[in-house]
Amino acid sequence: MEASPIRCLVSAGPTREYFDPVRFLSNPSSGRMGFAVAEAARAQGWEVALVSGPVALPDPEGVRVVRVETGDEMHAALLEYFPECDVLFMTAAVMDTRPRHRSPHKVKKDRLPGVIEMEPATDILADLGRRKTGQTLVGFAAETENVEANARAKLVRKNLDFIAANEVGVPGSGFVSETNRLVLISRDGGREVLGPALKRELADRLIDRVAPSVARGREGRERP
Ligand code: CTP
Repeated sequence: MEASPIRCLVSAGPTREYFDPVRFLSNPSSGRMGFAVAEAARAQGWEVALVSGPVALPDPEGVRVVRVETGDEMHAALLEYFPECDVLFMTAAVMDTRPRHRSPHKVKKDRLPGVIEMEPATDILADLGRRKTGQTLVGFAAETENVEANARAKLVRKNLDFIAANEVGVPGSGFVSETNRLVLISRDGGREVLGPALKRELADRLIDRVAPSVARGREGRERP
């Protein structure tokens, strides 16, 4: 019997956290890294679902795309696909904080607060790390300093198999850039520098490096 294709889940782009229907806090993630990973996974013959925050990119061909806005929407969409996926690439730039209150009506400008009270948002990847049953989890760490040490700490804290550390704020790397440089760190202590290269090229290499672990994770695991 032919093996079923590997099921790959990817998150991409920013999330938005609203404090009224027309105003939100967010970040400048372009979604390019995640869309490149989705395309590279598809090119491998994997079955791909892509959950994306608001970005100006067209749906990659042959990929099931779910568009979301808030962190809660992204979390819910990922939870739907997560139990059956073999690998998750969590490239999304999820907001860590959100307004404590969301007004159902547009707040008039003379009533806009000088200070917006914030609360922590759910750490989606940490939640999925607690739920994993053999899926390979690949996180992305955006750092401006102590890149590798911080990334390693996140790998452990979120129960990941790999983390791709990304130095933001330097030319040729990060959120809105066409190119990127990643340090791929694995749970077993491996470390490899990928790039600098175009995001699609990096995505191909990333899939290559992660594929053996995905195959191993699949063995002996009954999918629901
Ligand atoms: N992530 C997530 N939910 C959040 C924040 C982050 O799922 N609320 C995921 C990101 O998609 C990424 C990984 O966690 O794959 C690391 O994100 P990063 O922003 O680098 O780290 P944080 O956990 O937010 O920690 P810090 O802001 O302290 O660097």
